[in-house]
Amino acid sequence: MHLFKGLLHKKGAASAADKQPGGSAAAVSKANGASTSSHTTTSAVNKGRPVVPTQEGRSLDALHSIPVHKLRAQAAATEALTVPESYPHFTPFVENKKQYDEMYKRSIEDPNGFWGDIAKEFHWEKQWDEEHISYNFDVRKGPIHVEYFKGGLTNICYNALDRHVAAGHGDRVCFLWEGNDLDQDRKMTYGEVLEEVCQLANYLRSQGVQKGDAVSIYMPMVCELPIAMLACARIGAVHSVVFGGFSAEALAGRMEDCKAKVLITASGVMRGNKKIDLKAIADSAHTMAAKSGHTVPRVVVYENERAGGRAACSFTEGRDVWYAEAIAEQAKTCEVEWVEAEHPLFLLYTSGSTGKPKGVVHCTGGYMVYAHTTTKYVFNMQPGDTYWCTADCGWITGHTYLTYGPLLVGASQVVFEGVPTYPGPDRCWRVVDKYAVKQFYTAPTAIRSLMRAGDLYVKEHLRDSLRILGSVGEPINPEAWRWYHDIVGDGRCPIVDTWWQTETGGHMITPLPNAWAQKPGSATYPFFGVVPVLVDEKGNEVKGEGEGYLCIKQAWPATLRTVYGDHERYETNYFKPFPGYYFSGDGARRDKDGYIWITGRVDDVINVSGHRIGTAEVESALVAHAKCAEAAVVGYEHPIKGQGIYAYVTLMEGVEPTEDIRRELINTVRGIIGAFAAPDVIHWAPGLPKTRSGKIMRRVLRKIAAKQEDELGDVSTLADPHVVEQLVALRGH
Ligand code: WTA
Repeated sequence: MHLFKGLLHKKGAASAADKQPGGSAAAVSKANGASTSSHTTTSAVNKGRPVVPTQEGRSLDALHSIPVHKLRAQAAATEALTVPESYPHFTPFVENKKQYDEMYKRSIEDPNGFWGDIAKEFHWEKQWDEEHISYNFDVRKGPIHVEYFKGGLTNICYNALDRHVAAGHGDRVCFLWEGNDLDQDRKMTYGEVLEEVCQLANYLRSQGVQKGDAVSIYMPMVCELPIAMLACARIGAVHSVVFGGFSAEALAGRMEDCKAKVLITASGVMRGNKKIDLKAIADSAHTMAAKSGHTVPRVVVYENERAGGRAACSFTEGRDVWYAEAIAEQAKTCEVEWVEAEHPLFLLYTSGSTGKPKGVVHCTGGYMVYAHTTTKYVFNMQPGDTYWCTADCGWITGHTYLTYGPLLVGASQVVFEGVPTYPGPDRCWRVVDKYAVKQFYTAPTAIRSLMRAGDLYVKEHLRDSLRILGSVGEPINPEAWRWYHDIVGDGRCPIVDTWWQTETGGHMITPLPNAWAQKPGSATYPFFGVVPVLVDEKGNEVKGEGEGYLCIKQAWPATLRTVYGDHERYETNYFKPFPGYYFSGDGARRDKDGYIWITGRVDDVINVSGHRIGTAEVESALVAHAKCAEAAVVGYEHPIKGQGIYAYVTLMEGVEPTEDIRRELINTVRGIIGAFAAPDVIHWAPGLPKTRSGKIMRRVLRKIAAKQEDELGDVSTLADPHVVEQLVALRGH
């Protein structure tokens, strides 16, 4: 087991943890060189409660023990406060609920026709078959599979770029790049982007990259990042973008897993005042991957002059090549590789319930049509609109709603390298005015931090170009929703609170602007083709008003097709917990009007500033520290980040907790995963609350972290009830 070495335990516990049933690396103990599983079914931790299905060996939260965010409770209270559906400034594609209902009905009853009609807007080198959809979502009936546009041949890069240029729009602005500092910007037209994509695609081909080969991309938000993705797509290569905030170990594990033929990276990046030496991290990752058996033969380095440039950048002759030199001699046209609709487009690694991230696989045809359709309807986007999504291309939002969706529609979009609060908290609104942004898409964590900075920063900018405001990545609390709507949008712009996941490829539950009344904090209704259901512990559908585990009943075009190299894990994680359904890992509530409210994850995944992090990943990183015997990580409510990372740590026998060890532990997590996964709190734990069989009671840990120990409920199964008192006493705040 060498894959993702960095994300698993390094010592004895690692391999033992790996051997847990279901491949789970969730074990957190290395005391005495042994490892104990930290997970269990709910019935084991709390007698009398229903058995909750497991995902990869870890239990799900029983619905009534979901740590309901205070802010989400607030959502329920404000549910009655609907916002008028009518905004005077534009006519949406879907004008009202009736029109939606008709379109939705057809999308569910005749998906072949519905998606087929939309797909006709694209270029297909070969037309798909009439009955092009087939799928199985039921593990009891055989292997899970999903297929759309059977028989069709196409290319997403051609549809995102060449199609517009061929239609005479080569001069339309494609990217409006805005750098970290105020005076840094650059415009690229569709024609220019196409030429650079062709040059890079030709270079990749010259290096032997062929259809189906993987290319890793580790870059800051410069135009060359989406360009690199499109260049891969053009030649049928599979891109694996690794967010620039990930560590060397994380990058190494990902390059190794997909056997990357090329790594495309950059010399460095400035984030606010901080310089990050990406190339040095990439070099360490290269060495680690090589040690584990995979040497990436070629590293293409984009010179980011604003972050030190060549002078400050290491360079290995024979292996490394400067981006500018690599493409300089290449032709500005490049033959398209026509691929089958089901040809893989990209891998994107995402956290799950275990220590090992999953390589989610999305394929060309269905993803293309879905990315386009959701972008068009949810943002009411017309060709030529100026749109801005603040997400990094290293996450799914940057894939679907930056690189692909808006380009498929033919929009002009801002690509922002900096951070929303630099040089001041008005940066976003300054950029909105500078480019006359019409649709703005960001995460609740950014909204909350800008809200905290004060209204003045918003009000000193006009923002009169704004028409639609989007939210993604975590539940948005009604207070932030109101501020976004009333202050940022001056009450003129509908909010699209889009619920979806890396796995779903595109929006799943979301308002359509101006089509029906909104309720702050609710994602409202499903998008076309999506059949969400709420199920109870036993897998029975909850009809009407109620709460349940959020599942999807029917395939949609951008359903993830597999987990790279591990189809069994795909089935176990997403389709076995509730046979017959795709299971999202989230809980949700449906109100009397049929509006859906996402209540948050019910598995061991936490959402920190909209970044998805598996608690087991952080635990694995912590126990990699020599002095850490055991670790258990839970999420807790954080005013800005939504959720923060709360780590209980048991040190090795005889080791006294010190400030230095605390810092070292945090740095260990930074080193193994990345700075964004650093624990916010380290809680020294001489012992952890366990059942007699040694299973950690996470519910108890969550309550202690939330300072709600008076609501612990039944703890009669605890092996040592004193542990709770001890932990509360050691909380120290
Ligand atoms: C959460 C991000 C509530 C949810 C696109 C999901 C949300 C996870 C929302 C996926 C929303 C995303 N309201 N929760 N509008 N959007 N989530 O894979 O828990 O990074 O399962 O995809 O984010 O995170 P991922």
